[in-house]
Amino acid sequence: MQVLHNIPPNNDPRVLVGRDYTDDAGVFELDRNTRIVQTVDFFTPIVDDPESYGRIAAANSLSDIYAMGGKPLTALNIVCFPLKTLGPEVLSDILLGAWKKLKEAGVSLLGGHTVEDPEPKFGLAVTGILENGKFLTLGGCKPGDQLILTKPLGMGIITTALKNGKASESLVKKAVNIMETLNDKASRLMKEYGANACTDITGYGLLGHAWEMSVASKMTLQFYSKEIPILQEAYKLLKLGFYPGGSKSNLNFLHEKVYWASSVTNETLQIMCDAQTSGGLLISVSQNKAQELVRKLKQEGISDSAIVGDVKKSGVHPLVVI
Ligand code: CO
Ligand code: CO
Ligand code: CO
Repeated sequence: MQVLHNIPPNNDPRVLVGRDYTDDAGVFELDRNTRIVQTVDFFTPIVDDPESYGRIAAANSLSDIYAMGGKPLTALNIVCFPLKTLGPEVLSDILLGAWKKLKEAGVSLLGGHTVEDPEPKFGLAVTGILENGKFLTLGGCKPGDQLILTKPLGMGIITTALKNGKASESLVKKAVNIMETLNDKASRLMKEYGANACTDITGYGLLGHAWEMSVASKMTLQFYSKEIPILQEAYKLLKLGFYPGGSKSNLNFLHEKVYWASSVTNETLQIMCDAQTSGGLLISVSQNKAQELVRKLKQEGISDSAIVGDVKKSGVHPLVVI
C-alpha cells in the first residue's frame, strides 16, 4: 500500500476494481459484455517436494480469481530460481506440478519468465473471465449473513514445523492435500447460492482477511471459535513454539481490532491469525441459504466446510470472537 503512494490514482473508467481496493484481484471491463479479472502471486518453497510446491503455488495463484467469482482462463509462470545450484530437473518438476493443477482447473499456460536467483520463488499471473460480468468483493457482507469457511486452518504452523523437521509425514501429507485443493467448486457453489461477499484466506490469516472484509463492508464479523475447522495437530506444534513470523505480525496488528470472549483460548486466537497458503474461501451468504450451501459443499467433497460466524451492524470492534 505505502509504496504506491507516489503513483497517481487510476482514472480509466474501465477499471472496476483496481489498486484503490484491497480486493483479491483486479477487474477490467473490456467491453459491455466482457469483464476480465487478473491476479499474481508467488512465494518461496513451503514443502520439500518440487512437484507439490508447483501444485500448491498454482492452486494459490488461482484462488484470488475464484474468490472474486471468476473463471480462470490463462496463466503465466513467474520463476526465480538458482539453476546453477539446484539444476533444471527440480525446476522442471515445479513447473510440471503447476501445469497439472492448471490442467485440472481448465486453465491454459501461455508462457512465463525466469530469472536466476539464489532463493527460489515461484508463482503465476492468472487472467480470468467474469461470467455475466458478475463478481464478488470484500465489501458485500450484509447484516444477518452467515460466514462459511471451506478449508481448515493451521498451515502456517505446520509448514514452519516441517521446515524444522518436526512435522510427521502423515500430517504433512494431510496439509499438502488441503493446500493443493482448488477453490473452484467452492467458488461455483457460492455463486449458485448468491453469496454476498467472499475472500480467500492466505497470508493475513482468517482474522486478517476477515478484518479487510469488515472494513470494506462496514460491518462487524463475529466468529464462533468452537466451529472453526482447525487441523488439531497445529495446537501441539504451537505449544512446541512453531509460529511463523507472518502470523505473529498478524496477531500484533489485529490485537486491538478483535474483541474476544474470555472463554476463547490464546492458542485458538493464534491459529485464527496464522498465515495460510492456498487457504479456503471465507463466504458471506444470507442466513437462509448458509446451511444448504454447507451441505452442498460437503456433498462435493469440501468436507471441512463449516458455518464459522455471522455478520452484524458495525459495533465497537470490527471483529468479535466468541
Ligand atoms: Co486473496
Ligand atoms: Co493474492
Ligand atoms: Co521474458
